[in-house]
Amino acid sequence: MYNISLKILRLLPPELSHDITINFLKYFNVRQKKIEDSILSQHLMGLDFPNPIGLAAGFDKNAEVMHSMFSFGFGFLEVGTITPQPQSGNSKPRVFRLSEDKAIINSLGFNNKGIKKIKKNLIKHQKSYSNNKIIGVNIGKNKNSSEAIDDYLIGLEELGDLASYITINISSPNTEGLRDLQLRGKIEKLIKKIIDKRDEIKNINNKPILIKISPDLNEDQLRDIALISLANNIDGLILTNSTIKRERNLISINKGKKGGLSGKPLYDNSNIILKKMYELTNGQIPLIGVGGISSGKDCYEKIKSGASLVQLYTALVYSGPNLINRMKSDLIDLIKTDGYKNVSEVIGKSVS
Ligand SMILES: Cc1cc2nc3c(=O)[nH]c(=O)nc-3n(C[C@H](O)[C@H](O)[C@H](O)COP(=O)(O)O)c2cc1C
Repeated sequence: MYNISLKILRLLPPELSHDITINFLKYFNVRQKKIEDSILSQHLMGLDFPNPIGLAAGFDKNAEVMHSMFSFGFGFLEVGTITPQPQSGNSKPRVFRLSEDKAIINSLGFNNKGIKKIKKNLIKHQKSYSNNKIIGVNIGKNKNSSEAIDDYLIGLEELGDLASYITINISSPNTEGLRDLQLRGKIEKLIKKIIDKRDEIKNINNKPILIKISPDLNEDQLRDIALISLANNIDGLILTNSTIKRERNLISINKGKKGGLSGKPLYDNSNIILKKMYELTNGQIPLIGVGGISSGKDCYEKIKSGASLVQLYTALVYSGPNLINRMKSDLIDLIKTDGYKNVSEVIGKSVS
């Protein structure tokens, strides 16, 4: 059924087909047989992950289809990016398929319904499904806000209680100036304020704080982020967001569109960043590897490159939700074939 739906959806403009998918998932109860195996489970950042494969931010921006996404077998979800005020994002068209490259370029610009509405969605989900599934909340800043840090503090204060972990997104290429927050002076100030705020609020002082970074940072910038994260006890790093770089070998007609490139062409570069960060942090901070994953083998490779967990988005657009079960089953086989007893033993194995 999913294969037929995918073919139909692929005929429509990408953003429209995404909206139709979200509406379908919102109103229809998805049931799918899931693959469970304790070989994939890990206790990390104080949380129990049943498997290491997560949904990356940007698919469920408004926290509307969490139940369905768990039904497809994800071990954890990340909703958002959420900004304090609702905003419509950049002008359309702003999502382009690069089908021949198995990639997407988007310049959405944090279109989302804002904290007030999304908070209600998260509360409703919590009430309807009182379970301990892991939902990360990815927060950002409004396009027109004058003080970026304040927006992150508002996000943390308003949503921290409802999140299993909070992701500070300072790496989207589609909000002007956002990525500058990754630079030394700015990120240090931001992280300190966020950690102080987290520690001062009683019901969120145990919530892990993760930072999501760009694949376009140079070695010095990565080193700065590693040192600052270690010094401030950041709980995790997510590597990476989409890239503004364009591989020479892209072939799709849409390759020149403006925005962040995700999917297969991002895979190698995000892996390089992941390995570097694993080295720079001496494996002391859990890393979530994201960028171009489309198979169990890709997950395995990311984990060997230093990721404790992985996330994906673009491959779902091309392969549909059955992909998650296939990936889990292949990942289990790969772990067993190499003689490991648990996925955690694989982390960083290909980093010298
Ligand atoms: C259409 C689209 C929207 C996205 N929106 C967000 C977002 O709101 N916040 C964020 O942190 N990342 C966002 N991302 C980036 C993804 O979370 C992920 O980091 C990136 O796409 C690389 O993974 P992939 O190659 O598996 O897609 C978006 C990606 C796509 C394709």
